[in-house]
Amino acid sequence: MAMHADLKLVEQDEGGVDLAFRAEVLQGLSERQKAIPARWFYDMTGSELFEEITRLPEYYPSRVETRLLETHGGEIAELVGPGVVVVEFGSGSSVKTPLLLRELTCTAYVPLDISGEFLRQSSRQLAAKFPELAILPIEANFMQPVRLPGSVPDVARLGFFPGSTIGNMVPQTAIDLLRSMRDTLGDRSQILIGIDRHKDVDRLVAAYDDAQGVTARFNLNLLDRINRELEGTIPCERFRHAARWNPEWSRIEMHLEALDDLSFTVCGRAVRMRRGETIHTENSHKYTPDQARLLLQASGWTPIETWSDPADDFMLVLADATLHRSAP
Ligand code: AVI
Repeated sequence: MAMHADLKLVEQDEGGVDLAFRAEVLQGLSERQKAIPARWFYDMTGSELFEEITRLPEYYPSRVETRLLETHGGEIAELVGPGVVVVEFGSGSSVKTPLLLRELTCTAYVPLDISGEFLRQSSRQLAAKFPELAILPIEANFMQPVRLPGSVPDVARLGFFPGSTIGNMVPQTAIDLLRSMRDTLGDRSQILIGIDRHKDVDRLVAAYDDAQGVTARFNLNLLDRINRELEGTIPCERFRHAARWNPEWSRIEMHLEALDDLSFTVCGRAVRMRRGETIHTENSHKYTPDQARLLLQASGWTPIETWSDPADDFMLVLADATLHRSAP
């Protein structure tokens, strides 16, 4: 089966500027604690740097999750059953996808990603590996409810949300997102989600501030992207990457810290920062299995199986769409 042309659900102005990117950057830089949503890391360069992160010795999540998929793929396929459409949220380079697709007998694969270029490239690679499979890429922000086009077969769906991307949302947003995935996928659906677990803080900080400085480049690329796409004049070399553990929220935070008092413009708007002030760019929440279960239950999903590695670093959870609100 051939790969279909991708559907584009991203709004741009006549100059090709992503309108949501501009709005969220300008809004975020005008707040008291400056903040830019982490999803804007993933332009082509950011997506490539993230792939590099996943291969770093300190960054265990990708390695451990891959191992879990390799080890438990057969059990997952048995619990999912044949004939499903697999919808991957934030597919990126889809590196873990083959591990799942080779175990399942599925009707179609629908990768959703905000980075169109990356989506097309990885869909082509996947089509070469699975020539029989219908691949229907959709360029979209999966943080908003996505209506699957009519070309997606109306059969049971398996949402695939690996990589602990759910950890990049505050719990309230995570619940909103899981609920909206439940709406996108429908009543006869399941979700397979990867979630990073609580662990020693030093290991967590090292995973987000690696010795080779790849995560620092990933974080700082956001400033380059703003300069490139939003006519920014940010002096990128006057910022440094910082990764901090926040115990109240049980999360690693990434920040871009100003090394001097700075002033610059973005889309012609003036921004000032004092030395030491930061732009908060990412949260990465870590969950216990009980917290993960509660998160899913609060979002319309009933967990049916959880797999963890021997070191309890990471978990994969399979959940059914909850059909009715249970009594009372
Ligand atoms: C995509 N996401 C789950 C990664 C994480 O671990 O929060 C992004 C990342 N940021 C820095 N390193 C990796």
